[in-house]
Amino acid sequence: TVFEATCTAPVNIAVVKYWGKRDTSLILPTNSSLSVTLSQDQLHSKTTIRASADFTSDRLWLNGIEESIEKNKRLVACLRETRALRRTQIEDKDPSAPKISNLAIHICSENNFPTAAGLASSASGYACLVYTLSKLFELPLDASDLSIVARQGSGSACRSLFGGFVAWEMGTKEDGSDSKAVQIAPETHWPDLQAMICVVSDEKKGTSSTEGMQLTVKTSALLQHRIKEVVPKRMEDMIAAIHNKDFPKFAELTMQDSNQFHAVCLDTYPPIFYMNDISRAIIRIITEYNKDGVKAAYTFDAGPNAVIYAPKDNMAEIYAILSHYFPNAAFDDSMGLLKETALPS
Ligand code: DP6
Repeated sequence: TVFEATCTAPVNIAVVKYWGKRDTSLILPTNSSLSVTLSQDQLHSKTTIRASADFTSDRLWLNGIEESIEKNKRLVACLRETRALRRTQIEDKDPSAPKISNLAIHICSENNFPTAAGLASSASGYACLVYTLSKLFELPLDASDLSIVARQGSGSACRSLFGGFVAWEMGTKEDGSDSKAVQIAPETHWPDLQAMICVVSDEKKGTSSTEGMQLTVKTSALLQHRIKEVVPKRMEDMIAAIHNKDFPKFAELTMQDSNQFHAVCLDTYPPIFYMNDISRAIIRIITEYNKDGVKAAYTFDAGPNAVIYAPKDNMAEIYAILSHYFPNAAFDDSMGLLKETALPS
């Protein structure tokens, strides 16, 4: 017999950023974070997993190319955790249940967007892996339980187990059992809010998030201020802004948090630069656009690409303004219209 499951998982873009780990193997963060999950129509990961007594070893294909599993500690951790759950939750309790946890598996995973573009492929990828494993193993767990496993693949992946508005509660326990994702509001809560991804560069980023954030933890005094004095209050304010659908407040907090995340990168020694001249030009354009009232928010992750959040009615205008300044740019309105995908010259 062959056991098989296929699932897809969405990308999420943080509005209160995760940056820093207090435990690098369990992936426990130094602050809570909050993100918006984008619709799966344009961007998603898709994973098929098969388990069979005919397979001799665990194998992995990423976008059609075979990759080593053993070298990938995080993937190994996700497999170990879900197999252990299969045993304790199902096979130990019910002797007639098939012992799938003993079988070798083949994993095929692909993104429908370029991995190199730095568009949170690890978030959707690990969320998808863990969710598909949970279906294969028929685990009786909810999305928050699964987020604890996905977190050990990539921190931001834990937030992609939910749609809508999602908080990753940092937790305080050493074993990480309370460091999990929870839904703040479902995707139906604020249908008027849209996201547009501006692909400024599809080059692979210089410093990975994993390396970058630990250098920040080691060297930045500003990070300590951020995690102690800024983020706790900002999480509360952000949750309130989302519940009230208060776009100006949501936008202000989003832009301030992106700015502070990049300030913390600059405060890292040696400094880390993720934004480039085009990223900074986008900040200036959005700032100018907002001068008589906040109509759009920008945010940048560990790379130069911008994500713009705005009410639906403003999107066409924002698209027109940005494409006026960057006529060759790729703007992928991932919660609505798909735009052209050429890159800026
Ligand atoms: C800037 O989740 O990619 O996108 O846990 O080491 O895999 P690891 O890092 P990762 O970091 C994401 C950082 C960020 C902010 C965010 O998504 O919250």
